[in-house]
Formats: sequence, structure tokens, C-alpha cells
Amino acid sequence: MHHALRPTDASTEGLVELAQDATAPEGLLFHHANEGRPLATPWQIAALRAQMVSQHELAPGHVLDCACGSGIQLAAYGATLQRPLLGVELSPERAQASAVNVRTVAHHTRSEEDDWYLNSHIVSGDGTDPEGVVATLHDTELNVAFLHLDPARPRNSRTHALEEMQPPLHRVLASWAPYFNEENHAPSLLLDLSPRLTGAQRIEVESIVDATWPGIARTWEWTSRGRGRVDRLALWLGGVADGRAARRFVRVPASLADPPVILRSEHDQIPLDVRHHPPKRGEHVSILDAALMESGLMGEWLDRVAPSQEGRWASVEGRRPQLHHDHPLELAPEDEGLVQATGRVVELLKFSLDQTTVDELVSVALGHRLASVKLRYDIDPALQPKLQGSLDRQLKRRHGDREGFVAQHPHGDLLLLCVCPSEAEPSPPI
Ligand SMILES: C[S@@+](CC[C@H](N)C(=O)[O-])C[C@H]1O[C@@H](n2cnc3c(N)ncnc32)[C@H](O)[C@@H]1O
Repeated sequence: MHHALRPTDASTEGLVELAQDATAPEGLLFHHANEGRPLATPWQIAALRAQMVSQHELAPGHVLDCACGSGIQLAAYGATLQRPLLGVELSPERAQASAVNVRTVAHHTRSEEDDWYLNSHIVSGDGTDPEGVVATLHDTELNVAFLHLDPARPRNSRTHALEEMQPPLHRVLASWAPYFNEENHAPSLLLDLSPRLTGAQRIEVESIVDATWPGIARTWEWTSRGRGRVDRLALWLGGVADGRAARRFVRVPASLADPPVILRSEHDQIPLDVRHHPPKRGEHVSILDAALMESGLMGEWLDRVAPSQEGRWASVEGRRPQLHHDHPLELAPEDEGLVQATGRVVELLKFSLDQTTVDELVSVALGHRLASVKLRYDIDPALQPKLQGSLDRQLKRRHGDREGFVAQHPHGDLLLLCVCPSEAEPSPPI
């Protein structure tokens, strides 16, 4: 049974969870229901996406989100695209929270008198049943300009089958296809999928899409908010596909005021191989962003920051992809968020690091004028803070003025003490 709510007269009665989204401007509080909060799109991602969609020309009509949860993404679309919204949500309480959240965003953006807001609806019901949804809208004619889908997936599962997505992708696409306004426009869709989909599952998603719109333009997008994690994996389709990219990596900045770093590639992923090589003093070691690695765009990025360098990958998996190379990276300010650490190897440490040998590392580090040394390799989590704390305490207030880190050579236990480039000591030109 479907039931339509208008954000203009939605009630907060019965909604008990009201929370500040850490990525939203202070005071922009959202309601959630039935444990919808962890499912909600962070405001910063929602706002950034809406801005990226606004760079494309959409057909006239509604923005449809057939599994709108707390309506955070939907509300961001409304305020940015100025299109009437149609959200559908199976849980009546979440549908109510969505309606209230759309109103909150309209208030926050002073859009309460705008047509998009006055003509928006949230329907509580099944997002795979367009007839049932449209019947609740009475005299509103529905043309879909853009469809967003962020299906629910099993929680606490590292990998999962596509069939577990709710609502199921194939049913959403097939049932809503007739409602798209395709006059002079390709259908526009954004599928917000699990960041844990495998390459084979991505191909499976593409074939589900092709079953409804064969050969539709497509761009895969990996979004990261840092810490080396892929936070979102999305497929942009048709009118919102990136004409310049089959794959795109978006590094969301810490602040909404800063622009994101966007990397694009028109090519298929270039496989990167680990190469065995002996440790060498004087070579450079860079520990790079694991999310960028996962997106498959690392090769293109290195073409820019390490042009004409043949790097040697020490590790391409896990949290610390490690590249060894002969010259410093040429980093623009926006590249810095994609580098965990980079520096030149000044010592090969032939002892394993523990509480009995940390003083030895301190004296080697002071010999290289280091004021700080960060441990950038996997260490027993119980030991790591003790060693790092001891290094920090002992190196502070001594004569060092440079920064460094310790990486692990991939073969054997050898540790590499590296010195980071500093402004006082500019990198030599290649
Ligand atoms: C990941 S959440 C969406 C979160 C949303 N993007 C936001 O910003 O808050 C997915 C939602 O899909 C809803 N859902 C699952 N099956 C559905 C169906 N058949 N029709 C409508 N909604 C459904 C779930 O109740 C859940 O709230």
C-alpha cells in the first residue's frame, strides 16, 4: 500500500532520532528512523554529487530516488538541481524522516517558496512498483529526468551477492524505464553501489543495465574521503556519464569549501605488478593512497606525478601500496592527499624495531637531522603506539629539523628509514 507525503506538511511526530551529520554545516540536523542513520549518505558526499550531476543537462521532469532512506541525497539534489523530488521508501518511518529532511534542507537553503520544493513528494511504499507510486500523486504527471538508486545491502558483510540488494537493481530499472523523459535526452541514472563489489560483479551490474538500455554510456566512480578507504562506488549512466571518462576517482576534501580532486581515465585498467628488487639507499619510497589503487587509476596518476619513471611496486594490495622509484614525485598541492608518505631512503635498518631497539633508531634518526619519524608499516597494534610515542618524545626538542618515516622492504624484515622532502631542502630537478 503506497502513501504520499508532502515535505511541506510533514510532521516530526514519532521521529526520535535527530542528529548532526559530521560533514554537514553546523545546525543542519537530520531525522532518521528504524536505524536509518548509518545507511544515510553523508551530507558532504550528497552535496558534492548533486553539484556534479548539475554539470549535465537533464531532461525536464522529476528527480526520482526509489530507495530514499532518510532522504539526505534526495534533499541535496532538490536544493542543487531545483527539480521536484519523488522519493520512495519502504519503511513508513524513514519515508516520514525523508519528508522532514527535505523540508529542513529547503529551509536551510531558503527554498521554501520554490517550485521544486512545493512540488516534491515522498511516497511510503515499494520502489519497484511505479504504478502504485504514481497513483498516490493524483494529478501530478510524472516524467523522470534523473533516477538515483542507493539500495540497501546486508550489513556487516565484506562481500555480498548482487541479489541481496534491496530493492533489486533489475526490477527498479525495468519498471521505471517507461517513465523516463527520453525526448532529446538519454536517460540519466546514478547507481550508488557497495564499495566492495568485485570486478566480476561490476560486469554483472553492467549487464543488468544493458538489459534495459543496451550500450548506454557509463562511468564508474570511486569516491574516497581519505584514510585510504573507498567510501562509495557508483555507476553514472546515460546523460550523467562522464564523456571524458570510463573510470573516475574522486577524493573528497576535508572541508566543503575545498574542491575535490578528480582523476579520470578513458582506458581500461592497467594491471600493476609487484617487482622483486633489492633494497637500495638513495632510492625513493612512496606509500600511496589505497583507495586510488583500488579505483585502478593509480597508473594514470603516476604518469603525471612521476613522468618517465619506471617505478617498482613493492606492494599493490592492502592499506599501504608501496612504490619504489628513482626520483622524487612531482606533487601539485591537490596531489598531497593521495600520498601517505614519500621520501628518500637514507638508511637500511638491519635490526627489527621493538622497545629494546627504539633508542638505536632515535640515534640513527638524529644523525640525519630528523625531528620526527612516523612508522609506516604494519606493526602489532599493541606495540605501535608505544614505539611511536617513544620516537616522538625522544626526537622532539632535539636538533632535528626534517621529517621522516620508516617503511618495510617487502622482502625480509629490513626496515627503510626515509627522509621526506621539505621546503628547506627542495627536491632536485629530474
Ligand atoms: C542505503 S538506504 C538509502 C539511503 C539514502 N540514500 C540516504 O541518503 O539516506 C536504502 C533504503 O532502501 C530501502 N528499501 C529497500 N527495499 C525497498 C523497496 N523495495 N522500495 C523502497 N525502498 C526500499 C530501505 O528501507 C533503505 O532505507
